[in-house]
Amino acid sequence: MKHQQPLGDTPPEEFRKQLHELADWIADFRENIESVRVAPDDKPGAVLAKLPAQPPEQGEPFEKILTDVDRLVIPGMVHWSHPMFLGYFGWTTTAPGILGEIITAPLNVNAMTWRTSPAATELETLVIDWIRQWVHLPPEFGGVVYDTASVGVMHALAVAREEAAPSVRKRGLVGAGAPVFRIYASEQAHSSAEKAAIALGLGEENVQRVLTDAAYRMDASALREMITRDVRDGFKPLAAIATAGTTSTASVDPVPEIGRICREFKMWFHIDGAYGAGFAILPECQSMTAGWSDADSIVVNPHKSLFVPLDFSVLYVRDLERLRRVFTLVPEYLRGDTVEAQKNYMDYGIQLGRRFRALKAWIIFRSFGRDGMAARLREHIRLANIFAGWIKNDDPEIIGAREGFRSRFELAAPVSMGIVCFRFVGADKNKLDRLNSEIVERINASGRAYLTQTKLRDRTVMRIGIGNVLTTEEHLRRAWNIVQETARELNREK
Ligand SMILES: Cc1ncc(COP(=O)(O)O)c(C=O)c1O
Repeated sequence: MKHQQPLGDTPPEEFRKQLHELADWIADFRENIESVRVAPDDKPGAVLAKLPAQPPEQGEPFEKILTDVDRLVIPGMVHWSHPMFLGYFGWTTTAPGILGEIITAPLNVNAMTWRTSPAATELETLVIDWIRQWVHLPPEFGGVVYDTASVGVMHALAVAREEAAPSVRKRGLVGAGAPVFRIYASEQAHSSAEKAAIALGLGEENVQRVLTDAAYRMDASALREMITRDVRDGFKPLAAIATAGTTSTASVDPVPEIGRICREFKMWFHIDGAYGAGFAILPECQSMTAGWSDADSIVVNPHKSLFVPLDFSVLYVRDLERLRRVFTLVPEYLRGDTVEAQKNYMDYGIQLGRRFRALKAWIIFRSFGRDGMAARLREHIRLANIFAGWIKNDDPEIIGAREGFRSRFELAAPVSMGIVCFRFVGADKNKLDRLNSEIVERINASGRAYLTQTKLRDRTVMRIGIGNVLTTEEHLRRAWNIVQETARELNREK
């Protein structure tokens, strides 16, 4: 007869031992993060090939599983918490964030209604309001926590759709006789606008991309022209999305002008502040919030710039009841759970079951305070500008550019928040796109640092994002040396 495992959970004493072991594991991992490669140099499938394809029939001891985490998982990861990880917006792990996730785990509640999770619901309301105050939104903005900004913009546009074609919720687009709607966002805006249009049956092609100026900000006059043309051609302008902190360059669109156009054409005005809005907690960045109070909705991702671990994104809507009207639907088996509550967060989106995300945010915000977060964000801006200064003062004599090239690197966009876009230009023009891309690929494959690449006006550029609390000037100096070295190597090989 097979050995029978006891029923129930791990015995308390054994669990306590495992937790202590795990606490040491986590503390060691954080302390020694720099000893791991930032990224592996494996081909897809490498991790899978090392793992048994058959699911386990018998339970295994935790110690053995943890050994496999060390042996197989850790080397197969891109370490977003590594101080040399400069990809995307730069990412951060923090000790209070880890503690928040740990405390959330044993509670494991479902924050769908107030009754199923009173403290989770009320903490969510509280932290949403703290962020609202920090980013200077007026009190008529209420919010809800989702996993991501992509989900936030989809819900915002669902409300826009319902208000522009009442009864879509009930009868669908065709049944409600809805027109062909158009949504406008700059050519630098995030692709989540198209994803939302796909999900809402509005059509990807009906997201119209508006030209940007030399600093990659939406050209408001081009927006007005597009809307006017669309109205003439029988389309119905539904919404415009202004971005505060675009994905490639962190540019900030002219929000007040876009807001005025939305009012004039009776359109929904959404602000994508997924990355940038968090910087509004800095007094020196407050001017960015001009015009925000005219928005119908705004997304803020504290998991991008306010130190909360993934995932935590807030959608604010001016008068949150507008969102509830579109999504409330109480199945009979939950009716009793909803009667006395002021707020049941399941009413504010398509998701029923919801994690207790607010706890980790509450712990982070209390641990750092606004002041602590502001100081760290300020440091990220300072570091980005230092890096940009090195590029601007790059001396081609030091690490030989090919003859005839006055400089090897140039900034590819104005520095904004923690983002620096730059380009290697010390070679023949027709080789530059490939070279810039290969520099990033080679650095990432080396495991020494991690950058991203993007296209700006059809030119490939390199990009760093500084957002990690562990990244120091010394790390950046190292990254800059690696970039120069790699550019020189590749340029010589070509
Ligand atoms: C400006 C902007 N908006 C939205 C998103 C989507 O974010 P999420 O991953 O939270 O959906 C991103 C992602 O990087 C972004 O840069």
